[in-house]
Amino acid sequence: MDHSPAKFVLLLMAAAATWSSVFPVADARSARVITTGCTLREREALLAFKKGINDTEDDLVSWHEGNQDCCRWEGITCDNATGHVVGLDLGFWTSFLADQISPSLLSLEHLESLSLQYSGLCDDAHHIPEFLGSFKNLTHLTLFGMLCHGEAPPHLGNLSKLEHLVLSAPATSKERDLKDISWLTRLPLLSYLGLSYLDLSSVVDWPLVVSMTPSLEYLDLSNCSLPSAARSLPHLNTTNLKHLDLSRNYFGHPVASCWFWNITSVEYLDLSNTTLYGPFPDALGNMTSSSG
Ligand SMILES: *[C@@H]1O[C@H](CO)[C@@H](O)[C@H](O)[C@H]1NC(C)=O
Ligand SMILES: *[C@@H]1O[C@H](CO)[C@@H](O)[C@H](O)[C@H]1NC(C)=O
Ligand SMILES: *[C@@H]1O[C@H](CO)[C@@H](O)[C@H](O)[C@H]1NC(C)=O
Ligand SMILES: *[C@@H]1O[C@H](CO)[C@@H](O)[C@H](O)[C@H]1NC(C)=O
Repeated sequence: MDHSPAKFVLLLMAAAATWSSVFPVADARSARVITTGCTLREREALLAFKKGINDTEDDLVSWHEGNQDCCRWEGITCDNATGHVVGLDLGFWTSFLADQISPSLLSLEHLESLSLQYSGLCDDAHHIPEFLGSFKNLTHLTLFGMLCHGEAPPHLGNLSKLEHLVLSAPATSKERDLKDISWLTRLPLLSYLGLSYLDLSSVVDWPLVVSMTPSLEYLDLSNCSLPSAARSLPHLNTTNLKHLDLSRNYFGHPVASCWFWNITSVEYLDLSNTTLYGPFPDALGNMTSSSG
């Protein structure tokens, strides 16, 4: 017997996989069985996006019609079980990408992770595009070193599942400014936030914003030209904060008047180069273990 049942099943699956990549719009039942390959809709969205950008270095060379399964394209991650595109990494390996950004990317409804690190994917006004706030399932967004202006659209506050956000600029860049961060308080699950090397000098009540962002655990505000940290807050919603980096902000007031002393969850506190002075408050003893 050269057609054992096991082989037969394998052949069937191979045939099904071929079928799915030629005719990717399969019914729901077969979609559950066939787990390879992104959907036609997702592939078309990515191709439309590619048309809108200036890929001078051919970084997106693997993104083409002939290469049917977009899960295998550079920078794409798919969910093993559903085949949907869940991750898009257009950072680092991408050369300067500018021009029009296609909101067609929004067809990637299942996207959970997006990195535009060091890319120039800005909107026409050279800002971070507003449509990034429409990826309903996004949990991770990395815009580190993006070549747009620092100002982030308040639309990012619509990303209700966001857990990890990095907007920081590279240390070597000229400081870019961020004037409004109040939208952060609309992110109930945000636990990791990097804003270092952005100029926040006009965000006067940054302690209030931070204290109202409920799930924060990691906060990097190093080198942000922050105004005063002296603030007495009647109510703190941030009770999970473990890592707080405020280094290289020149506050120049007594250390005891800082707003964060009654956050007892803090394990790492960096106050180097902050020109804070005077005795530490007794509350320092209630922080888990601090350094800096
Ligand atoms: C997202 O946020 C912006 C600005 O905060 C708002 O104007 C817009 O209506 C929101 N969009 C959705 C779809 O909720
Ligand atoms: C603090 O969190 C609670 C629920 O966790 C919420 O109802 C309240 O509005 C928040 N307050 C502020 C000032 O953010
Ligand atoms: C923090 O401590 C100050 C005085 O040390 C107090 O006035 C304030 O109410 C406290 N805030 C919270 C949220 O416990
Ligand atoms: C430290 O914590 C204890 C117990 O929670 C509390 O009674 C005390 O007032 C706190 N000390 C300061 C200086 O906040």
